[in-house]
Amino acid sequence: MRIIFQYLMLVFLFSCSDSELVSMKQISNGAQLYKSHCANCHQDNGSGLAKLIPPLQHADYLSKNAKQLPCLIKNGYKGIMNVNGIAYNMEMPAARGITDKEIADICLYVLQKFPEKPIQLADSVIDNQLQNCE
Ligand code: HEC
Repeated sequence: MRIIFQYLMLVFLFSCSDSELVSMKQISNGAQLYKSHCANCHQDNGSGLAKLIPPLQHADYLSKNAKQLPCLIKNGYKGIMNVNGIAYNMEMPAARGITDKEIADICLYVLQKFPEKPIQLADSVIDNQLQNCE
């Protein structure tokens, strides 16, 4: 049984292209970073917290503003934000002690995990956004 499993894992690994393996690594790294930088507010499962913290799970705001996610993480946000028909008005603090590369990994994870349909953002798009955050 174990041998069969190992064989299947090998077939699986070799059937992935290099770039898929890289992004799988980025996504699992992003998952760890999400736990330490985001989950205390948005929760592990992205449910948010009552009317204080908006959900990420199936959030219309996230799907509509996927491209802005890198700068939202970098700069935080203050003001009213409408998510799935509810107006939130708490501050999201700018992420601290985190590199652009780590922000990119979090973005890949969040956009893979929480929208109804996973959203792909190319690394180049994320880099470009991060260099031009206002
Ligand atoms: C201290 C709590 C807190 C932390 C930590 C935090 N957020 Fe937020 N986040 C908020 C709040 C509050 C809002 C809504 C802002 C408002 O009401 O103006 C928000 C809004 C958002 C939104 C847009 C609304 C939505 O639900 O789609 C996204 C996406 C998001 N956060 C992702 C993240 C990610 C990714 C991280 C980790 C890097 C993170 N947040 C860390 C509190 C937090």
